[in-house]
Amino acid sequence: MSALLKDTILEIFKNSRGILATDATEDTMDKRMSDVGIVPTPELRVRFREILLTTPGISEFIGGVILNDEIISSETSGGISFVELLSQQGIKVGIKVDRKTHDFANFPGEKIAEGLDGLRDRFKKYKDLGASFSKFRAVIRIGEGIPTQACIESNAEVLARYAALSQESEIVPIVEPEVVMDGSHPMERCMQVTSAVLQNVFFYLQKHRVDISGMILKSNMILPGKDSGMDVSDKEVAITTLEVLKRKVPEILPVVVFLSGGQSPVSATSRLNEMAKIGGFPWKISFSYERALEGPSLEIWKGLESNVDLARNEFLKRARLNSLALAGRYDLQMERDNS
Ligand code: G3H
Repeated sequence: MSALLKDTILEIFKNSRGILATDATEDTMDKRMSDVGIVPTPELRVRFREILLTTPGISEFIGGVILNDEIISSETSGGISFVELLSQQGIKVGIKVDRKTHDFANFPGEKIAEGLDGLRDRFKKYKDLGASFSKFRAVIRIGEGIPTQACIESNAEVLARYAALSQESEIVPIVEPEVVMDGSHPMERCMQVTSAVLQNVFFYLQKHRVDISGMILKSNMILPGKDSGMDVSDKEVAITTLEVLKRKVPEILPVVVFLSGGQSPVSATSRLNEMAKIGGFPWKISFSYERALEGPSLEIWKGLESNVDLARNEFLKRARLNSLALAGRYDLQMERDNS
């Protein structure tokens, strides 16, 4: 494996650190802001990221931050670039490079990830800007007759082609095939689908000669559909998720990170903690959360400067609790502590 890829991975995850994915596209971020009563503007989108990333002490818990196109080329109000702001704190800079998911022609209800066109040149630009890792997300939906094998395979091949291009630029790829929580399916169905997706993703990664030891997998946890009405314990989620991953993820993969995918922040932390307590897996596990890390801060901030300190405290708390969860040292009681 390239020494650079290896060093980047080691640096991001050293000392129980994880990733903040503050890479929601402009329209998704605008929606998240509207949902908490903020009238979105480009300035507020940038300001929110500035508030998070200038929170004192975050580098103890966050080793990498995934930005999007808008933020990677923006500056803070202090006049330094976000790349510089992160580098000064010893935090690695990541960039989301997919161009979202789009309707998969001939397959109603399914999505295909796009973003490969011109990607080699875009990687060159991101590398020059200071990115050392990247992320590409595909979405697999569960429903009546879906996902189809065509959808699973096509997305897996897109992810593999992305990962190959990322490694060619010596940028660590985060391959994210997200089986989304939407739907009323039971947990077993998520288990079956995630297994099939991972099987195909690693098949295509190997087919495209991607160095598995120089990449990161970003996976969903195994959960029942959010409209299934089924209640599962955090321990059950942890056991089932690890069971699937241990069967489908090669041992040479260095790290599996999880997305939060709409779970509550507390559940996302607690389930990670349960996995760490179970242990016995060959790769490292960590978090790469967006909503579960920054969602509560956005709600507290509400776009008001008078709430900045409270929003920062909440962000630092979620980062710290998730870092503790990586060592199996999180406890629900800690949610009640103020700091
Ligand atoms: O691609 C999805 C994000 O990187 C993770 O977001 O933690 O809100 O699912 P999430």
